[in-house]
Amino acid sequence: MNIIKATLVSAVLALTAPAAFAAGAESGHKIENIDFSFDGPFGSYDVNQLQRGLQIYTEVCAACHGLKFVPLRTLGDEGGPHLPEDQVIEYSKQFEVFDAELDDFRPASPVDHFPKSALSNAPDLSLMAKKRAAFHGPYGLGINQLLKGTGGAEYIAAILHGYTGEEKEQAGTTFYENDYFPGGWIAMAPPLYDEAVEFQDGHENSVEALSHDVAAFLMWTAEPKMGARKQAGFAGVVFLTLLSVLLYLTNKRLWATVKGKKKS
Ligand code: HEC
Repeated sequence: MNIIKATLVSAVLALTAPAAFAAGAESGHKIENIDFSFDGPFGSYDVNQLQRGLQIYTEVCAACHGLKFVPLRTLGDEGGPHLPEDQVIEYSKQFEVFDAELDDFRPASPVDHFPKSALSNAPDLSLMAKKRAAFHGPYGLGINQLLKGTGGAEYIAAILHGYTGEEKEQAGTTFYENDYFPGGWIAMAPPLYDEAVEFQDGHENSVEALSHDVAAFLMWTAEPKMGARKQAGFAGVVFLTLLSVLLYLTNKRLWATVKGKKKS
């Protein structure tokens, strides 16, 4: 009897412990969900937000961080920032790439990728929004993940406005206290401040608004085909539903004679 009880207790502990661990893991601050346009099974990117995010990345983050997995031509993609072709060409020119054929540097063109990180200890941001999560894995039925995603963009936004203002020096490096960074101290100086970037259309540019826009842009760099994936998923579900109905009706019809429908 005791053995069964002990087994039951350990089973319950095993099931609940990871959830309890995740909830209190890393830093004491819980990252709140942000209502992004791309959340949920039917969500899609907001073109204007992606364009603002691109501007923030270019004017602020690109000084240190690269996006080496992102081809510049994808800036023109539908479902992405959707820049007109001439703007993509114009945008690309600001970066320099080394051309082995010319054995020299030349201005980048849309066939090239964004450059690598300029600062050696600044990680590449191409996939950061998928690499990090704010909500830590699919617990329960995974409904939260379906509706809100795993929170990579929320994590990035939280880091960008999560500075407390404290700093310390350690082994020659300055660390900045950040409530949302695992460990609490990050080697990145607060990159954003209110009005750090001015938008042509006068869109809001508080630290919080900027952090949301650049996080949305980095979600796109990490998952540029999200729209196509969701559409294909939806089409799949519709198709399978229809197929199930047809199979059910076919099955009924096939067995009708055997099941003794003698009335007709
Ligand atoms: C002055 C250089 C600099 C600028 C500008 C900068 N960063 Fe960073 N960033 C860093 C460094 C260095 C790290 C590594 C910090 C660490 O590991 O402690 C980092 C780390 C990060 C991380 C990773 C956090 C993690 O979980 O590992 C993210 C996300 C990030 N930066 C986003 C941004 C965004 C978005 C911008 C533009 C708004 C930006 N950074 C601007 C230097 C910079």
